[in-house]
Amino acid sequence: MIKRPRRLRGSEGLRKMVRETRMDKSSLIYPMFIKDGTGVREELMSMPGQYRCSVDQMYHELQKVCDSGVGAVMLFGVPGHKDEAASQAYAEDGVIQRALKEAKKRFPDLYYITDVCLCEYTSHGHCGMLCGQDVDNDRTIKVLAKTALSHVQAGADMVAPSDMMDGRIAEIRRVLDANAYVNTPVMSYAVKYASGFYEPFRDAAESAPSFGDRKSYQMDYHNSREGIKEVILDEEEGADIVMVKPALSYLDMIARVKEVTNLPVAAYSVSGEYAMIKAAAEKGWIDEAKIVCETAAAVYRAGAQCYLTYYAKELAGYMDEGRIG
Ligand code: PBG
Repeated sequence: MIKRPRRLRGSEGLRKMVRETRMDKSSLIYPMFIKDGTGVREELMSMPGQYRCSVDQMYHELQKVCDSGVGAVMLFGVPGHKDEAASQAYAEDGVIQRALKEAKKRFPDLYYITDVCLCEYTSHGHCGMLCGQDVDNDRTIKVLAKTALSHVQAGADMVAPSDMMDGRIAEIRRVLDANAYVNTPVMSYAVKYASGFYEPFRDAAESAPSFGDRKSYQMDYHNSREGIKEVILDEEEGADIVMVKPALSYLDMIARVKEVTNLPVAAYSVSGEYAMIKAAAEKGWIDEAKIVCETAAAVYRAGAQCYLTYYAKELAGYMDEGRIG
């Protein structure tokens, strides 16, 4: 035998030398939930180890992020008041706006990305303004752009619209540019599927729709070419980064998106992915660290350059230990 693939698997040093996928802490983004009120620090029932904190309690969590070496966070707001107009989404003293101002004072070196969506802020839990039972696309993108602008004015370094309305990237770009924020990047949740994997998040963010579902705006999981269409549109509209979400069940999409765009590709391992690993680990059926490393490597191997995950801090630790990377 002349060709023996096992020759290059003979030692840890050699395996690392020829490794194809290399990971770095600087590509990790940690999602966090900030809740209105004071003195709030609630562990999420369906996401053990993740917390919902008020602005005065978030410093502890931000400190842990900094200590782990993760450099970026994605902030989600849980407002005290919801209404038809989603008014707390763009209020100057809204929960995210206050969180940004405070967090940037204490931790100026972290990079702050905000999720821009209305489902947490509307009384009905849908991602936009309603017209009858349906979300009115063109009215919604105006409110999204207003929300994105208010986040940037409060200090957001990047905005990430997750609503899946048509034309929202162009509208957000237009409004940011008109207000002289030409250098603030937009990360589009471009390929976002209507997914059962968001269930724990909706408890965490109190954002479950009060009727119906999100299938008239989020994508049908039977489709892949439709995702490419979304990526091409978002790139034309000025997106700087495109995201695939969820991650683990959509590795094919990460790989395909990578081929059709030269934009950086992000992937988001969502709440249900976290919950499944946690639950199986708690039962002692899997080794949590092993599964977290393996799934992260799969996401990067498929082509992701940035990785949003509730395991970001742990992954940074595993990278430091040389377990992965
Ligand atoms: C807001 C939003 C959702 C997630 C990110 N942004 C929920 C949804 O679309 O229902 C899901 C994140 C997760 O499950 O971790 N639209």
